[in-house]
Order: sequence, then C-alpha cells, then structure tokens
Amino acid sequence: MRRAPIQKALILRHKLALAIRTYLDEHGFLEIETPILTASTPEGARDYLVPSRVHHGSFFALPQSPQMFKQLCMVGGLDRYFQIARCFRDEDLRADRQPEFTQVDIEMSFPHDEAIFELIEPLYQKALSLIGVEVTRPFPRLVYADAMSRYGSDKPDIRFGMEIKDVTEEMRTLGLEGFPATIEAGAVARAIVLPASGGISGTRLRKINEEMWLLRIVPDSRCAKRNLFTLKNTDEAVANLVKKGASEGVARRIFEKTGASKDDTLLVGVDTEGPISMAMGILRLEMGKELKLIDETAYRFVWIVDFPLFAWDAGEKRFYSVNHPFTAPKPEHAALLDSKPEQVLAKAYDIVLNGMEVGGGSYRIHDSATQAKVFKILGLTNEETRDRFGFFIDALSYGTPPHGGIALGLDRLAMLLSRATSLRDVIAFPKTASATDLMCNAPSKVKDEQVRDLGILLSKR
Ligand code: AMO
Repeated sequence: MRRAPIQKALILRHKLALAIRTYLDEHGFLEIETPILTASTPEGARDYLVPSRVHHGSFFALPQSPQMFKQLCMVGGLDRYFQIARCFRDEDLRADRQPEFTQVDIEMSFPHDEAIFELIEPLYQKALSLIGVEVTRPFPRLVYADAMSRYGSDKPDIRFGMEIKDVTEEMRTLGLEGFPATIEAGAVARAIVLPASGGISGTRLRKINEEMWLLRIVPDSRCAKRNLFTLKNTDEAVANLVKKGASEGVARRIFEKTGASKDDTLLVGVDTEGPISMAMGILRLEMGKELKLIDETAYRFVWIVDFPLFAWDAGEKRFYSVNHPFTAPKPEHAALLDSKPEQVLAKAYDIVLNGMEVGGGSYRIHDSATQAKVFKILGLTNEETRDRFGFFIDALSYGTPPHGGIALGLDRLAMLLSRATSLRDVIAFPKTASATDLMCNAPSKVKDEQVRDLGILLSKR
C-alpha cells in the first residue's frame, strides 16, 4: 500500500464510488442495504456457505448478487434502488475475477425501453471524466449474434477492427481438396486479415496454427484435420494455389470480401460454428495486441443486446439461463417459451468496455406464472421451485410493477480507469488466484469445538 500506484488506484476507486453515489442520489435512487447472510441467489457460480450454529445442518449462503432483494424492493414500492454491494462467488478465478467483489447494483420500476441506457451512459461519462477522458453518447449497440459472428465474443474489444468474415461459400468452391467435404459435413469458414504492415513471420504463423489446435474446444472428427489455413494476397501465393487446383477468381473474391489488401495475410479457420467463432475471436484479440493495432489510450464502450434467454448444456442435457432466471423474454418471443425455448431472446444487455464486461442487467419477469414456467424449463421440479423460490414467486403475485436494472462491476471499472492489469491492484486486501488471503491466513483451520458447535463432522481427505 505504500507504493504510489496502489494509493493512486485506491484514491481513484474512492472518487469513483463517491461520484456514482452522488449521481444516483441526484436521480432519485435510494441506497438500500440487503443481507449478507442469506439464501442462495443463482448467478451461475457456486455459493459460499455459512453453517448455522443454531440450526444444525442448515446453511446461509453469501449473496452472489442482491438480485432477488432488489426486485423485492420494487414489489415493496421502493421504486428506485441502488447499492454498492459486496458479492461472493466461488468460481474459477482470473485476473478480472475475485471471489468477493463489488457491484453498483441498480433497479427501477416502470422503466421505458431506453431507461437503463439513458441512466447508465451518463454515469459512465461521469466516471471517465475523473481521469479526464471524454466519451460520446449514445454508446454503440451490437446484438449478441452479430457480436459472436463479427468478433467471436460477447465482449468484443472494438478499439480495433480486424473483424471476422464469413468465407464458407468461397472456401467450398475454391477448388482445394478437403474443404468441400468438410463444409458439407457442417463446418464453416471464418477469416481475419493480418495487415502486411504488421510483418508477421512464417514461424509465428506456424505457431498460431499449432495454437489453433489447442483452441479446438469440441473436437469434431468430421472437420478438416488442419483447421487453420493461411492465404497471402500476393501474385506468387495465388499462382501457387492455382497450381494446387484452386480457382484464381474465387481466391481474388476471398480477398475482396475480407478487405485484404496486397501483401496482407488471411487466416482462415474451418471448423464447426461455435468453436471456430470462439477460436477466431481469441486469435483476433491476440493478433490485435501483437500487431499493436489497439489504441491503449482509448476507452470504447459497446452494449451487447438480444442475448438468448437459455442455452443448452449437452453434458447435463438441460437448459441453463444465459443471464439469470429472473430475466424477461422479449415480449414478442414469450409465446415460444412453451415450444422452442432455445429460440427465445432475452430483454437483457451487457455493457462492455475495451473488451471487458463491466456490467450486465435486464428487464425482469414480473408475473409469477412466467417465472414459474422459466424455473420449469430450467429443470426445477415444482417442489424445488417452491422450496427455493416460493417466497419470491408469491411476492410477484402481489401486483408487481414492470421493472429492470443492472449491476456494474466497480472493481473492473476502477481497474480499467487506473490502467491496471489485475483487479488485485485496485482492491486494498485482495485474494490470491486460489481464493486465499495470505495476510490473514484465510481460510484457516478452526478449533475442534467450533466445528462441533456447528454440528459439523469433518471427513478425512
Ligand atoms: P452479473 O453476474 O453480470 O450480473 O454481474 C454484474 C457485473 O459484476 C462484475 N462481476 C465481477 N467482478 C469481479 N469479480 C467477479 N467474480 C465478478 N463477477 C461479476 C462484472 C459483471 O458485469 N444480478 C445481475 C445484475 C442484474 O441483472 O441486474 C448480476 O449480478 O463486471
């Protein structure tokens, strides 16, 4: 803490929280504290559990977010809520994830379609003004499907171009062996352009090819053995292709479609759609950094909208919520809930800054019947729903106003504004990558009688 960069980051974090509080107060939001010792709130991670001494065998869960409480505030008539809330998630940690972190949690009743965007964009403008950066409104919006196809990610870094292009039809008709069969078996071809000015070496390209193998997420035997293909926009390279049986016209069409100039190199990935999109997205980001295409001083926001409401877990053979189970379907899709849940889009949005998800939220389900239906689609039995969420479904039946909200990651925003590379640099007492506090030696063993008091029997590992 004695080091200047840490002090500077903590001072900035303080100013950020203060500016946000003031802004929300000025907009009629009330800061309301919600419990830390509570029941499970599903946000997709594991819960941190606290055993009860008084009720042996029962556990509190620390909140993954105050989601249900803030919605209950709307039912209770407190129609503009916020909280700078501590949240706890037991999940795999990375540089942008801590097991305990802070959200600026917001909810409002009767929001019109633009209400959340209109509230949040000026808030971020205010936040960035703290470091002297001006950002213009409105922030761009991208629908989820386009984000995936153009950037291979639902949190695209739009500080640079190098968008992914679909060249499936061209690769099918190029005349090179292997590709037509692979594509007819269900593969797609996606390309990015490496500018000649980047000067990428042949050795590096071979290395990337190997890495692409590692990136294969779902190995699919139907697909080409070699799934990354390099195509240089030079007469010599095209002549070589023609010698192998390729059509010069189609090769030139690929360059034209992808916007590859003379001497640029095209990287074409061929595989099943999901994995190749994701792999090309990772590659795009790596190449953007390596070729120094990213303006490190820029701050570029983008909203991602129209997420699917559910995704299918092939392993567990069940749907899970892409956002969380309280997210409303788009009204025009609600009728599909019974027949084609996988096609239902959600009234949800994420806000992404420089390729990092800094916030996410949605309009909510506000009637108990739809809420019960969603739990059913998620595979919960009536008893499980009653047991875990009965109080919440009951509350929704007491005349709940339409409502919606968002939660902004305060640590992530502080990290980006301080130009730090890890959340640990903007948290006074952070945890390690294995979720421990080395200073306090937490978590730690406790006395046998404390464990006994809790009615817990520890098994030997
Ligand atoms: P979500 O799960 O998207 O939404 O979380 C909101 C934001 O919190 C930040 N965040 C994290 N920051 C640091 N470490 C973590 N482990 C971590 N997990 C999340 C991210 C993220 O965008 N209840 C909903 C919000 C809503 O619907 O209103 C929720 O929690 O910046």
